[in-house]
Amino acid sequence: MSDRKILITSALPYANGPIHLGHLVEYIQTDIWSRFQKQRGNQCYYICADDAHGTPIMLKADREGINPEELIAQVSKEHLADFTDFGIEFDNYHSTHSTENQHFSSLIYQRLKEAGHITSRSITQAYDPVKEMFLPDRFIKGDCPKCDAKEQYGDNCEVCGATYAPTDLKNAVSAISGEKPIEKDSEHYFFKLADFNAMLKTWTTTEGHLQPEVSNKLAEWLESGLHEWDISRDAPYFGFEIPDAPGKYFYVWLDAPIGYMASFKNLCSKQNIDFDEYWAKESTTELYHFIGKDIIYFHALFWPAMLNGANFRTPNAIFAHGFLTVNGEKMSKSRGTFIKARTYLDHLNPEYLRYYFAAKLSAGVDDIDLNFEDFSQRVNSDLVGKVVNIASRCSGFIKKRFDGQLSNHCSELELFNEFTDNSDTIAALYESREYGKAMREIMALADKANQYIDEKKPWLIAKETGKDQELHDICSMGINLFRLLVAYLKPVLPQLATESETFLNIPAQPWPNTAKPLTNHAIKPFKALMTRVEEPKITAIIESSKANLEKIATTPAAKKFEPIANEIEFDDFAKIDLRIAKIVKAEHVTGANKLLQLTVDIGDETRNVFAGIKSAYKPEDLEGKLTVVVANLKPRKMKFGISEGMVLAAGPGGEDLWILHPDAGATAGMRVK
Ligand code: 2FM
Ligand code: ZN
Repeated sequence: MSDRKILITSALPYANGPIHLGHLVEYIQTDIWSRFQKQRGNQCYYICADDAHGTPIMLKADREGINPEELIAQVSKEHLADFTDFGIEFDNYHSTHSTENQHFSSLIYQRLKEAGHITSRSITQAYDPVKEMFLPDRFIKGDCPKCDAKEQYGDNCEVCGATYAPTDLKNAVSAISGEKPIEKDSEHYFFKLADFNAMLKTWTTTEGHLQPEVSNKLAEWLESGLHEWDISRDAPYFGFEIPDAPGKYFYVWLDAPIGYMASFKNLCSKQNIDFDEYWAKESTTELYHFIGKDIIYFHALFWPAMLNGANFRTPNAIFAHGFLTVNGEKMSKSRGTFIKARTYLDHLNPEYLRYYFAAKLSAGVDDIDLNFEDFSQRVNSDLVGKVVNIASRCSGFIKKRFDGQLSNHCSELELFNEFTDNSDTIAALYESREYGKAMREIMALADKANQYIDEKKPWLIAKETGKDQELHDICSMGINLFRLLVAYLKPVLPQLATESETFLNIPAQPWPNTAKPLTNHAIKPFKALMTRVEEPKITAIIESSKANLEKIATTPAAKKFEPIANEIEFDDFAKIDLRIAKIVKAEHVTGANKLLQLTVDIGDETRNVFAGIKSAYKPEDLEGKLTVVVANLKPRKMKFGISEGMVLAAGPGGEDLWILHPDAGATAGMRVK
């Protein structure tokens, strides 16, 4: 074992919303690594903080009628409680709105400026004349320039997926005041990233700094040229004022990564740690940032360049991970899969999730899926069925027949050694963040331990006379193997490990590479260390995540669809004769851009219908299909002939148009009512 000195960070969560399961992938991944390093005997500090600055936080506080300072204090408490209850053990949790961060942000800025890496010029931006503030893209809303969907924000349409500049939005208004934005000029400060082109080329391609897939992405970005980065925002803004630039503030992303340093500095003051040993240019300590793949640009380009330009050390590596999907889909508030950390904690043991994420995590950037069926199955079969089961199978006999005392010798030293011999392999997997593989190795050992007990059948031996020693040896062996398994799982399952240490009556277990069997040792009575996942609790989590949604929606969600039409009487509806129709023939209409000519069988007669669906359907894809037509619509004379009905379809138009199909069993001519 070594005496490495390691500083690790997770990305700083924004101080304007709750921690959810998507966040937890990263914190659990980092926490496992931190705990592993500490268990190995390394010096390791795990640092984090709330990311407290920026427009959204300022506006949220505004809406709640409190100061941003009050808001971030409140959120910080909630974040820390969520993390703590998930077993995330930071060495320090600070805030980017801190004196330390102001100090380092100004220092880094000054050094960059002195070295000529800062420039300024005037730019034109959208401005809210009522609220008297510049509007970030996401605070401008209007109609989508492509599909006309109402109330679309910023630079992309949630309905049709189009991307555009906020200036392309039709009828654009400020999302804050509802006023039409005007254009206004203002002086901005820029970080000249291109000055670091050569340095970044080397840094991003140096073995070990980045995962191969990330390094490749960076090569593309570097190839396409580095742009100046706008690091200033105008008042009103919640952040740090830029030195010598009154009314100008550092953009939240400028001071966010500096928050890593600031949080560490805060710890150094409390614990008398030498800050420079970790951050000076010539530092030999190790620095790693765990982040999501969406913020690679900030961490692998801006951050090393800022550090380098300000004469600080750069990170040893950046470890990016993928996103979380739930049951195979993007987390969704309406499906109840946008699950807050607290909602999960109200119902289930956090260690289930720690184990499940560990079992799914690798060193890559692939997304990971939380599938609730798989989740229950894995936790029940691996943790409850394999690991904890070993202790419960053996401890009863030890207590009842041997007064809680383990045998005075290890009967199967070879098997014990086989377990400790795996320690390097398992350690290497943790070290390289291949947790999924590590879990498989550990579970393979758990299988061996269970196999041993199955073969020895202590429950039968216990009934035979004169076999006390044998029974004692088998059960003591089982307990010893359990102890090693728990030591290997300790970074992932700290609570299970601690409770097991109490049960085993042993001090906190280090990495078990040199572990010796416990002999002639008194253990404590066994109590259930982990119970099976109760399925109704999962349902409860999903249900209450749907309920949460109603509670937290303070502003009504932007409407994506046209308003529901005025109420009608049933008789009004009954006037419309809708029929199942079979499309017998579909053909192009010479000279028509939008129309297809359909021949539809509506049971007792055949109709000719023109439908404006050419952009969405090929005629051959329609023939033979069933659909729904309005059969009593007055025939309409059109340029290309008479249309004797109307096909029902939904969608904004263009390629995005879908005609209705009845469920199997309906036949042409049936009335829809
Ligand atoms: O993307 C985010 O949630 C940011 N708050 C992460 C900041 S990480 C670091 F740079 F501070
Ligand atoms: Zn659109």
